[in-house]
Amino acid sequence: MTDQFANITTPLPGSQSEKLLERRNNIVPKGVSYGIPAFVDTAKGALVRDVDGNTFIDFVGAIGTINVGHGHPKVKQAIHDQTERYIHTGFNVVMYEPYIELAEKLAAIAPGSHDKKVMFLNSGAEAVENAVKIARKYTKRPGVISFNRGFHGRTLMTMTMTSKVKPYKYEFGPFAPEVYKAPYPYAYRRPIQVSETEYEDLIIQEFRDCFVNDVAPETIAAVVMEPVQGEGGFIVPSKRFVQAVYEECQKHGILFVSDEIQAGFGRTGKYFGIEHFDVVPDLITVSKSLGAGVPISGVIGRSEVMDAASPGELGGTYAGSPLGCAAALAVLDIIEEEKLNERAEKLGRIVMDRFRQLQTKYSFIGDVRGLGSMCAMELVKDLETKEPNKALTNQIIHEANQRGLLLLSAGAYGNVLRILMPLVITEDQLEEGLDIIEASIKEAIGGAIPAV
Ligand SMILES: Cc1ncc(COP(=O)(O)O)c(C=O)c1O
Repeated sequence: MTDQFANITTPLPGSQSEKLLERRNNIVPKGVSYGIPAFVDTAKGALVRDVDGNTFIDFVGAIGTINVGHGHPKVKQAIHDQTERYIHTGFNVVMYEPYIELAEKLAAIAPGSHDKKVMFLNSGAEAVENAVKIARKYTKRPGVISFNRGFHGRTLMTMTMTSKVKPYKYEFGPFAPEVYKAPYPYAYRRPIQVSETEYEDLIIQEFRDCFVNDVAPETIAAVVMEPVQGEGGFIVPSKRFVQAVYEECQKHGILFVSDEIQAGFGRTGKYFGIEHFDVVPDLITVSKSLGAGVPISGVIGRSEVMDAASPGELGGTYAGSPLGCAAALAVLDIIEEEKLNERAEKLGRIVMDRFRQLQTKYSFIGDVRGLGSMCAMELVKDLETKEPNKALTNQIIHEANQRGLLLLSAGAYGNVLRILMPLVITEDQLEEGLDIIEASIKEAIGGAIPAV
């Protein structure tokens, strides 16, 4: 038995949210989408309360941004203390210590014993943009390789590197030149009758073939990889694949960039997702949960690479703002003090156990996968054909929202339910959220889809 944390007392949207929604629709372009038709009043830990008094358990965490929980007292205190002294002077104008301290701390925890340097920006896309700029400057090469189903942002360069044509790219071209797409393993969707090992061999060979068929390796500055694909559907690559890509990079003098923007800061049970794969990236991009809601991002990298650009070539007005740095320093303390890496492992086991139980019951749960607490289930119309079931995924999310659970889809086909709850969620809240998913499944199928 769990206490009732989720509490929905009005139709969605409630009357207050409805008024705001009307104003929103009049003034905010429709291209800026929203998950549920509700406006937040307060958010704390893993609970979000809307302006009509409805309370939701949060399994989205602002898309992987709130690993330390909403409104953590230490984050609030750090921001408050920072505002008391100064809010912004522009690091490119008058420098401040929190930037230095955060850089030192990130360099100390990032993989590899080599000398590192760190710079800060605002958004995830901006971090990836800068990683590409730095890699080009250092290697004097133009090319960038990203992976099928990857997501790196919405700016011109990062949109080019991103997959999923609709909604991310359609009619937004022409795209940036010199970006090449490589295959990334998706074990669940491998051809039938091909073993996982054979499939890995195949994808590794296809990756190597890019340098024969698509582009000369000596023109490539960087390979940018998510250690676990986030938007792409929480796809965990094999260690062998990641290591093979890394070896190819080393062989050809290409920089290996780990995009940790969604997988980082405890989500997978480690500070950096790439730590699971025993490779040491040349550059790492970070954002999202680093700031616990205050915009900040960064690039961490080998000193000699990071120093390739000359003074004035990197930076930005708000890049690495004092408030972002203060929040991030608090986040790093919280992850350590509250042992959130270990906690992510534990929460992930609870979610995976429940998802596997559900998979034995329902014939439309094709795959259950994850790393740490970056967990997901993929929904299909048929276990044999694996035809994606986006409609059912959306229906379950809708039902979950009605019951007071915030939930988000992922995947190229929009048929993956991904879980990104704050890692400070209590086990009772987590169980209640999982119960809501189960109830939502039952309601969504209405008995129409046969159990396994
Ligand atoms: C792996 C990854 N890279 C980059 C980004 C872009 O971050 P932002 O939306 O802050 O620009 C995201 C956002 O979801 C992401 O998941």
